[in-house]
Amino acid sequence: MKTATKSRIQNFLEKKKKYLIPCVYHFYKSPMLLKKGKGVYLYDDTGKKYLDAYSGVGVVNCGHSNPKILKAVYQQLRNLQHTTTIYITEPLLRLAERLARFIPGKLRRSFFCTSGSEANEGAMLLAKLHTGRTDFMALRQALHGRTYLTSSVTGISFWRTDPEPAENVHFIPSPTCHECPLGLKYPSCKIKCADEAEKILNKYPNRIAALITESVHGNGGIQVPPREYFERLEKILKKHGVLLIIDEAQTGFCRTGKKFGFQHFGIQPDILTVCKALANGLPISAFITTDEIAKSYIKPGASTFGGTQTSAAAALATLDFMDSNRLDQRANRLGALLKKECRKLQKKYSLIFDVRGLGLMLGLELRRKNGDPAARDLDRILEALKDRGVLAGKTGKDRNVLTFMPPLVITESQIKFLIKKVTGAFNEILENPAS
Ligand SMILES: Cc1ncc(COP(=O)(O)O)c(C=O)c1O
Repeated sequence: MKTATKSRIQNFLEKKKKYLIPCVYHFYKSPMLLKKGKGVYLYDDTGKKYLDAYSGVGVVNCGHSNPKILKAVYQQLRNLQHTTTIYITEPLLRLAERLARFIPGKLRRSFFCTSGSEANEGAMLLAKLHTGRTDFMALRQALHGRTYLTSSVTGISFWRTDPEPAENVHFIPSPTCHECPLGLKYPSCKIKCADEAEKILNKYPNRIAALITESVHGNGGIQVPPREYFERLEKILKKHGVLLIIDEAQTGFCRTGKKFGFQHFGIQPDILTVCKALANGLPISAFITTDEIAKSYIKPGASTFGGTQTSAAAALATLDFMDSNRLDQRANRLGALLKKECRKLQKKYSLIFDVRGLGLMLGLELRRKNGDPAARDLDRILEALKDRGVLAGKTGKDRNVLTFMPPLVITESQIKFLIKKVTGAFNEILENPAS
């Protein structure tokens, strides 16, 4: 590394230490300064190119600085940047109508806000208003945000910071079949983990407004439940009058090979929350529900930046791009290729304990021979990948799941390049084991 570059990074790291709250953590022992993005690539300030296999955590599904989306944003910025929801403007209403068509089923009433946390907070408020109940149920290995209530319904201990989280939250085990929390084996288990929901509902009758979960646990290590899990859970919730909130922050907008993750499981959420990829990198989120449930929220509600014109214009262009390029089918096809290649790697490297995921949302769980989670090995692999020009992610309750969520515009040859670099990174760390 050139001395001038090194000192530039040092300079920014010092600013970070001095001016940011220490909880803001970053990847890599030796980080780079990212300056530019185009398609599936990011570039640092030395001009070094990186294949981005994490998409800013599942955000830029249509690629960095997608020209069609940028054009819509520039045009909107020139006309009208922001007003807020107290005025009637075109982009927000066109987006609401467009989303109602894009989302399968009866979900067609949107409330726009800015972040995933805010959308989940709003969805839970709506569930309370609709049911007149006070409590929530959530899954042990899911994540739903950083605000008071959303971090309280987040089960992964790594992300639970508040020493006094909300008390009206009841957790059930996550359906993590490769490591069953009930010590059972799928399918002979008969999906007993879903019955845990019923036990809680019987214990606290008429108290639980909604169960909130992701369709595939993202931060929890790309955990894909068996289809029967959601079918059973949905029946139990219906029986007890409990709403189902599906948080599609990571799984939404074609990532898993369908428009939304819940479509893989034959279920219909009562409230859907979306954010991240909705505007391909501009901040916008929403909770979306049915006509009937929407009727319960009539007291005035507003969000300063909720569906602001610029983000709404970006979201409209994003949905157009996804539809016209059939990104759902593309994620399905290329995800199958990536999974096949990852399975070949699993045969080669015993460190890879499991390969799982849907579409272009894949996780490789790393474990040592004695079964211990290989979190330190993963950190070294991520660093070695970065040095080779590839950025990948890290998830899982034990922080040992190498995660790929590339932009959905990635090509076959870029996937082959990615696999070649992953092979190189594994070889490097296995040839030089940590002391
Ligand atoms: C599944 C899920 N829900 C909610 C959130 C919170 O979103 P935000 O950071 O926009 O508040 C995240 C963030 O990573 C997420 O992955």
